[in-house]
Formats: sequence, structure tokens, C-alpha cells
Amino acid sequence: MTRGAPIFKLRNAADAKIYFLSFGSAFIHDSSFLHASNLHDELVHVRFHSKRSHLSISYMRILSGIQASGLLHIGNYFGMMRPAIALQAEGEAFYFIADYHALTTVRDPKALRENTRRVALDFLACGLDPERAALFRQSDVPQVTELAWILSTVAPMGLLERSHSYKDKLARGLAATVGLFNYPVLMAADILMYDSDLVPVGKDQKQHIEITRDLAVKVNDTFGEIFKLPEARIQAATEVVPGIDGQKMSKSYGNNIDIFGDEKETRKRVMSIVTDSTPVDAPKDPAKSIIFKLYSLVASKDEIAKMRDQFLKGGAGYGDFKKQLFDKLWEYFAAMRKRREEILSDKSYIDNVLARGAERANGVADQVMQRVRNAVGLR
Ligand code: AMP
Ligand code: TRP
Repeated sequence: MTRGAPIFKLRNAADAKIYFLSFGSAFIHDSSFLHASNLHDELVHVRFHSKRSHLSISYMRILSGIQASGLLHIGNYFGMMRPAIALQAEGEAFYFIADYHALTTVRDPKALRENTRRVALDFLACGLDPERAALFRQSDVPQVTELAWILSTVAPMGLLERSHSYKDKLARGLAATVGLFNYPVLMAADILMYDSDLVPVGKDQKQHIEITRDLAVKVNDTFGEIFKLPEARIQAATEVVPGIDGQKMSKSYGNNIDIFGDEKETRKRVMSIVTDSTPVDAPKDPAKSIIFKLYSLVASKDEIAKMRDQFLKGGAGYGDFKKQLFDKLWEYFAAMRKRREEILSDKSYIDNVLARGAERANGVADQVMQRVRNAVGLR
């Protein structure tokens, strides 16, 4: 790697990242200065290994998880899976099926086992490339529970008591278990365990990432620079995909359209999207329509513009728009349905992918845990 001229002194990893992202260069450490070179066009960024600013070049780490609590819906797809799949080409990606987290709500062992495999299947069918991204079960890296314990010893009760998702779950009638309360701590462990830079998620997970950063800062302040601070990657256009009743799409609200639902059920769900009572002839507001919002996710620019005109002109009923939405939706996922069938025909494919993913994930987790155990005095 050749050296360029000294550029400027960087104070911390955030500075380095900003520099890289704006100039697209790799950095080389040289005493207290950094040099830039343009040898890499892949996404790399500088990682600090110790307080003494010893630097090395490494790939951007991208991490996300998805709970094994049932069939995946198009809110999961557009909110998290599609962005995660797009990012797998930009760094080292680690994606996992959060089966420990699912245990806070799933009480049926057979269902948990089946859901875990089905999430893996669906994620692969949607384009996760196991040659690029490690796909694994959360419980294949049991050290996360140890890290969660360590984090829980610095986690302020008040911080967790403010968790929206905990409060929502209690409001929906779930029992207030310690596991449910600690959910964000385990999630922080998931993220910090892999020195993650970016965490692609839907908006509902934003607070969990903020809690993760708070906990990382607490540990760093107490024991020294152990953790890097991860950032949420939330796509504005798909941060909250609406369900058929207009609320956030969610399995627990029963308003979901599944990615791989059968044709009849999917059509039925689309046809039951809630609409207002504007007559067929009257102009309609596309911005207020769930149909239009969902159509915008699956149709081309021209098709979206055409539907917008039809809304504004009047003369077409919601039933027509729903039919157009169903057709586009069905077409959008056609190739993925095909890929899903192919994967299903290879009996050992999913197990092999998960085993390889677990091995890669454990490789990183072992190193980070060693660092953490040393720092806190367990070793
Ligand atoms: P979960 O099913 O709760 O494990 O969610 C998995 C991922 O999908 C998380 O990143 C969520 O933020 C995202 N997600 C779930 N529902 C939606 C939605 N309706 N809109 C956008 N993102 C969503
Ligand atoms: N809580 C996340 C959800 O419900 C799933 C999850 C668990 C996760 N651990 C994570 C997401 C770590 C991102 C990073 O969607």
C-alpha cells in the first residue's frame, strides 16, 4: 500500500469514518498522523484498538437480527431485510435469527424451532448471500448471554423502564418478566459482541440502538475503551411500513401481509386494506392512502406516477387500486418465491449455511469476549 501525504490528525473513530465516507479512501497509520490512499474502493474504515490510538484498517461491520416469532411480512422486508441485503456488499455482514429474544414471547418449543428455520429460509430466498453475510442463530453464540449479564450490571433501571417496546408489550397484556425487561440489554450484547458499525433496522428499533450506545459508553467510561459505538441505519422511506389497518405492520397487530403468504390469502389481505368512504368518481388523496403507500414500495416510478394521477383525477375506486397493488406485489416477490422453492429442495442447505455462519460469528465473539473479560477483571 503506498502512502499519500499526511492529511490531518484524527481524534477518534467518528472523525475517521466521516473522512472516509466523504473521500472514499483507505487510511494508513503513521505515528499520530493518518495518510490516505486510494487503493481500496471497497468500504473500509479505521478502527481504534486501544486508547493509544493504534489503528488498523478493517471492513465496515454490519449487523442485524430478526426475531423467530412467525412468518415474515413485507414490513420486515422493506424495513430491515432489503436494506440489510443491500449492505452485505459493502462490508462484513452478520445477520442472525434472534431465538433467545423470541423466547420472551414464544412458549412452544416446536414452533420456535420451526420459525427459526423458516426465518433463515425466507431471508435466504429474499437475497441474503451466505458467501458474503454470515447468517446464524443467536443461540449458536451463547456468549451473548454472558455479555448481556455484564452489561446488565451497568444498565440503569430507569433507562430500561423508559423502553417503548417494553411498555407496549405490557400494554398488550404480556406478563412483565425479567426477560422482557432485559430485552434491550440482550440486544445491546448482540450488537456490541461483533464490534458493529451499522445496524440496519426499522424505526421501532431506534430506541434499542440508543440504549445500546448508552450501555457501551457506560462500559467504556468504567473500564476503558472496550466498545465502539454502533449507528442505526434506518431508511426514511420504509421506516414504518403500514399494515392493512394503517397502523405499523406487525404480526402482533394481525395487520400483516406476509412475504411468502399463499396467493389467495395475500389477495384477501390486500382486498381488506382499510379505506375511507370517498365515492368512486371523486378525487382521492394518495398521501393518505395505505394502498398507495404499499404500491409505492413495489411499483416502478412510472407506475407510481400513473396511480397518483388516477387518485387525483377521480373515476377509479379503491377496489381497482387494490387489484393493481396485489398484482404488483405478487410480481415483486415472484423470483424470491422461486428461489425459496429451490432452497427447500436442498434438505441440508439451511443447516449448512447456519453452521458456517455460527462458526464465523463465534470467531469474532470469542475475541471480543476475551477483551471484555480481561477489561472487567473476570480473567
Ligand atoms: P421483528 O419482527 O420485530 O424482529 O422485526 C424485524 C425487523 O423488521 C426490525 O428491524 C424491525 O424494525 C423491522 N420491522 C418490523 N415491522 C416493520 C414495519 N412495519 N415497518 C418497518 N420495519 C419493520
Ligand atoms: N429486537 C429486534 C427486533 O425485534 C431483533 C434484534 C435482536 C436485533 N437483536 C438485535 C436487531 C440486534 C438488530 C440488532 O426486530
